[in-house]
Amino acid sequence: MKHTDIYEVLRDKTLLGKSVTVCGWVRTFRDSAQVAFLELADGTSFARLQVVIDKNALSPDAECLKNGAAVCVRGEVVKAFKGEGHELNAAEVSLLGKCPPEYPIQKKRTTLEFLRTVPHLRLRTNTFTAAFRVRSVAAQAIHRYFHERRYYYINTPLITASDCEGAGEMFRVTTQPFNAKYPSEAEYYKNDFFGKKAGLSVSGQLEGEVAATAFSKIYTFGPSFRAENSNTTKHLAEFWHIEPEVAFADLADVMELAEEMIKYIISAVLTECADEIDFFDKFMEKGLKEKLLHVVNSDFAVCDYTQAVELLQQSGAQFQYPVSWGCDLQTEHERYLTETVFKKPVFVTNYPKEIKSFYMKQNPDGKTVAATDLLVPGIGEIIGGSQREEDYEKLLSAMNARGMDKSAYEQYLDLRIFGSVPHGGFGLGFERLVMYMTGIENIRDVTLFPRSVGNIM
Ligand code: 4AD
Ligand code: MG
Repeated sequence: MKHTDIYEVLRDKTLLGKSVTVCGWVRTFRDSAQVAFLELADGTSFARLQVVIDKNALSPDAECLKNGAAVCVRGEVVKAFKGEGHELNAAEVSLLGKCPPEYPIQKKRTTLEFLRTVPHLRLRTNTFTAAFRVRSVAAQAIHRYFHERRYYYINTPLITASDCEGAGEMFRVTTQPFNAKYPSEAEYYKNDFFGKKAGLSVSGQLEGEVAATAFSKIYTFGPSFRAENSNTTKHLAEFWHIEPEVAFADLADVMELAEEMIKYIISAVLTECADEIDFFDKFMEKGLKEKLLHVVNSDFAVCDYTQAVELLQQSGAQFQYPVSWGCDLQTEHERYLTETVFKKPVFVTNYPKEIKSFYMKQNPDGKTVAATDLLVPGIGEIIGGSQREEDYEKLLSAMNARGMDKSAYEQYLDLRIFGSVPHGGFGLGFERLVMYMTGIENIRDVTLFPRSVGNIM
């Protein structure tokens, strides 16, 4: 169908006085004896197009004047009665698809909780149109950021036999029904599709390291899966994961990369999604724009884990989980550090080795690893990263200490035998970044069809 995007119609000055055809869904309408106004959205722009229908000249199908109806309008582009933009004086209005009154998207029923029950329709609301445009612009910015800096974009397998994080949070991939006749787990998997136990990858890092030790700079951008039984506002069973991996790099290089990348993405969103950010600033998080500008224009804080524990212990704050050296930081601790102590994004570094993954570079103190988490206000952790252990013996001993099955990691260990180099990287949770940039508080509202414990709508 030949038609013009509403984005163009609203902005393109050369269209003034010209006849165009637009297609979209009716968001609101006002009807009177003489004239009817339709607000039309086609998703190409956050602002909608006002269509003016002179009822003395036109008598459109009554179904066109209904909330949610899909219509096609030919008309003349004129200066808007109010404001800077353009509107359309209709010459012909035709119905593409009617929308009965049971349509769940009604002005008075727009709570996020309700809209979660209609994931197939909620994208037609302002909040979701805006959130998903931010998500799309951010994704493009991420690819641009890495591409401009000569990082190779690689795609790592989603089905894997190794558990990168070693946390036992893998979904199993199988074609076999349960069958009690097998005497052991190993026998059972031997008869399965791959001949051994397989699952959905929790991270592309291990394969990312393979690529980084050939190309020096790589990144992945794909889904990761976690069978975590965490029913929180920031956990999904399926999320999108950005994982750069860099050879000839130490922890400081990894942190520098993370900070520069986050600032680049936020700047792109501030420029390309100005309307959306204004909307979220008004309706979702007061001061959002100011916050994002501040993030772009100031340095992130850095805090050693040991110092973070002291700060938390001395804070006098009441935490549900007590803090002592060696404990994993809970979201409440992370948020206290970034919201109350530093009031901006903060890298926490050098965590105790027992609470972090096997692959992290062991520090000379024998107690900590060269790891970092980036914490941001409102959420807590959005990035987890580290320098990697490049020494074969040390890596092996970390795996032994965890009782890991080394047969699944032989190739990974080989990287430490053949031309091993200092290297590191991080993982950014894409949905958490979108939450941070929009002020949306629940990860289910920045995901098209969120998957979480007990929920696969
Ligand atoms: O901290 P994580 O588990 O680190 C890794 O997976 C490393 N292999 C990354 C690397 O060094 N290449 O996960 C990284 C990030 C987290 O900081 C968080 O933002 C996000 O992934 N994430 C989740 N997002 C949504 N739902 C979940 N269940 C998530 N689990 C992790
Ligand atoms: Mg983590």
